[in-house]
Amino acid sequence: MDKIRIVGGRPLEGTVRISGAKNASLPDLCAALLSADPVRLRNVPEVRDIRTMGRVLTALGAEVEFRVGGEVQVHAGRLTSVEAPYDLVKTMRASVLALGPLLAREGRARVSMPGGCAIGARPIDLHLQAFEKMGATIGVEHGYVEARAERLRGAQIHFDTVTVTGTENVLMAACLAEGETVIHNAACEPEISDLAELLQAMGARIRGAGTPTVQIEGVAALHGAEHTVIPDRIETGTFVAACALAGGEIEVRQCRPDHLRAVIDKFRETGVRIEEGPDNLRVRAPRTLRPAHVTTLPYPGFPTDMQAQYMALMSQASGSATITETIFENRFMHVGELQRMGANVRENGRVAVVTGPTTLSGAPVMATDLRASACLVLAGLAAQGETVIDRVYHLDRGYYRIDEKLRGLGADIERLS
Ligand code: UD1
Repeated sequence: MDKIRIVGGRPLEGTVRISGAKNASLPDLCAALLSADPVRLRNVPEVRDIRTMGRVLTALGAEVEFRVGGEVQVHAGRLTSVEAPYDLVKTMRASVLALGPLLAREGRARVSMPGGCAIGARPIDLHLQAFEKMGATIGVEHGYVEARAERLRGAQIHFDTVTVTGTENVLMAACLAEGETVIHNAACEPEISDLAELLQAMGARIRGAGTPTVQIEGVAALHGAEHTVIPDRIETGTFVAACALAGGEIEVRQCRPDHLRAVIDKFRETGVRIEEGPDNLRVRAPRTLRPAHVTTLPYPGFPTDMQAQYMALMSQASGSATITETIFENRFMHVGELQRMGANVRENGRVAVVTGPTTLSGAPVMATDLRASACLVLAGLAAQGETVIDRVYHLDRGYYRIDEKLRGLGADIERLS
């Protein structure tokens, strides 16, 4: 199992290119199940979750071709199965995104029920309620969700809680449903808009994607399309935090600053100097970091996927900052490891108070989930001495060659295989 070794204390300098968004590519790949024609995606990051989704689509009978340079073609001419099996879903919850397209196109889907995960219970009840409202019969048997519908009907869907993959699942299914579907309290994340753009290119009729009310007029069939995936906003934010923590000055290229408003504003509040271009950011670390409170919220609020990285940053600010996690109930798994490196963090339920600056000292640490791993990499860059991160496969699920990219910026980091 790979580990990552970092020796902290080297300022970053140079340019880093941001990869395509994992969380946009996953639903985009599933959208290809809605058409019998090939769908070609560009700027897909070559990370482990994408390969896993490739295996889900292959298991359903689609031909999936990974080409060089982040291009993926999915041809779901004829599906041979409607089952997303347990061994794939258990490694990646986002496999439930196959449910909507399968139900809409095949009238049937059998998807392993995702269990709890490191960051909380994460049920899919809202997805299932929505499909029932669209006329599907849903049962849960032997750990699998069994869904059936002759043809889905358009419906008024009111989500109690903003759910990103729930919105995506319903959005995809509604494209082939009979009549109009309106999603109320829809997620507004840029990944939803990206998916809607692809679906529109495939012939879907969608209005309001990226706002809380999305209207979809079902059509009889969708055709093939080509689409370029948006840049990864969480990878972008992670590199801004890396520079702020390690010191130095970097340019982050091929990103979308407009997708990171809340993150850029928060970093600026802490003293990080950020100059914005249309698709790039120039980042300069401040001499001293100021503390700034943060609360995670659905988009356009501060993303929960940046919370762990932000905590690493606040461990180096002069004073106390409160970090409130409102999206997931168990997303402070990184706190224990940060404390082992010397960070002063007090955790009380969904609130953590970080008081800095403390001198971090390198230590052997364990990654627990994707973003917690990124937090430990950042802490390692700021720490004195050597940090060795175990269970790097979490990091590899969502970051494309983060060790190589950081080394390119001058960090002392290597992968131990
Ligand atoms: C997606 C992202 C993930 C991000 C999260 C929040 C992908 C592949 N993953 O996850 O990186 O951290 O959004 O921005 O895009 N909920 C229910 N019932 C449901 C669905 C959700 O109670 O049926 C709850 C969840 O437990 C959670 C909240 O709603 O407390 C938001 O979850 P959701 O937006 O669905 O997260 P994901 O789509 O799983």
